[in-house]
Amino acid sequence: MPRKVILDVDPGFDDALALCMALFDPRLEVVAVTAVGGNVPPQQATRNVQAIVEQLDPPRLPRVGAASPPDAGLPVDSRHLYGIDGLGDVEIQVAELRAPHPSEKIICDEVRAAPEEVTLVALGPLTNIARAFQRDPELPSLVHRIVIMGGTVSGSGNITPAAEFNIFCDPVSARAVFRSRSTKTLVPLDVTNRVILTFDFLDQLPAEATRVGKFLRRILPPAYRAYRQEWGLEGIHAHDTVTLVAVTNPEWFKTQEMAGDVETRGELTKGATVFDRRRAPAWRCNMEVVTDLDAEKVVEEIQRNLAHAGKCTAGR
Ligand code: RIB
Ligand code: CA
Repeated sequence: MPRKVILDVDPGFDDALALCMALFDPRLEVVAVTAVGGNVPPQQATRNVQAIVEQLDPPRLPRVGAASPPDAGLPVDSRHLYGIDGLGDVEIQVAELRAPHPSEKIICDEVRAAPEEVTLVALGPLTNIARAFQRDPELPSLVHRIVIMGGTVSGSGNITPAAEFNIFCDPVSARAVFRSRSTKTLVPLDVTNRVILTFDFLDQLPAEATRVGKFLRRILPPAYRAYRQEWGLEGIHAHDTVTLVAVTNPEWFKTQEMAGDVETRGELTKGATVFDRRRAPAWRCNMEVVTDLDAEKVVEEIQRNLAHAGKCTAGR
């Protein structure tokens, strides 16, 4: 029985790469893809989700949710790195731009339709999920699990020295989700940074003749260029794609129960994730945190999954 998932995304090339995998994975039933502002402003994120789903044309069309700005506004985005559209400015067309329902409504509807069956895969700021929990206070206990790409345990942040991007974008929502009664798995930068997709990965993408291959061969090269120019890296991180593999192949990930929270103020530390790892912790454990992974198996799985997605999108 395929696992019902909702992917909450702020595309972003790595969100898009995760969608290319999830939408064709027979182990998953993607009931919805909900847009959230982060890498790009909310309206662009909503457009990108529609454009990506339209370009990939998966066998089962997911519901789409529209993003709206966090209450405190979006403090930062990644357009300086990934282009104005967040996908390398390669002009991904969308024929039919609809006005979807708000993402938080879609999340509430789909979780209520299948209580305790839906896994929320949070690959962007946690604005939508916090709002869904506000809209329906029983929802945290009706979600099967939330798997979150975000935060750091002992490593450095990426958007500030203290904070990871998704948490930094909306720390108040992140704190609300961390403190909610939901079952949570956090996939922090400490482990996602250990997976680098090299130029060999780019060469081994599905063929141009497939919809997945054609799409990725357009949006990924600008990401490789940005990584080389910005950090001198000969490859790209795939934080969201690693997080999706934590959903499909948890056996390759080591986890530990922890008590975590989010700094919502702090001139230097806003958006930092803080964990009580004292010898005698006083905070109650509220999530499992991924502490290790088999990076080689994760990359092999990404390649295997994309090869399958390529076969599903060959021709027409
Ligand atoms: O810090 C990495 C995260 O921020 C990824 O989800 C990336 O897409 C951006 O949203
Ligand atoms: Ca993301």
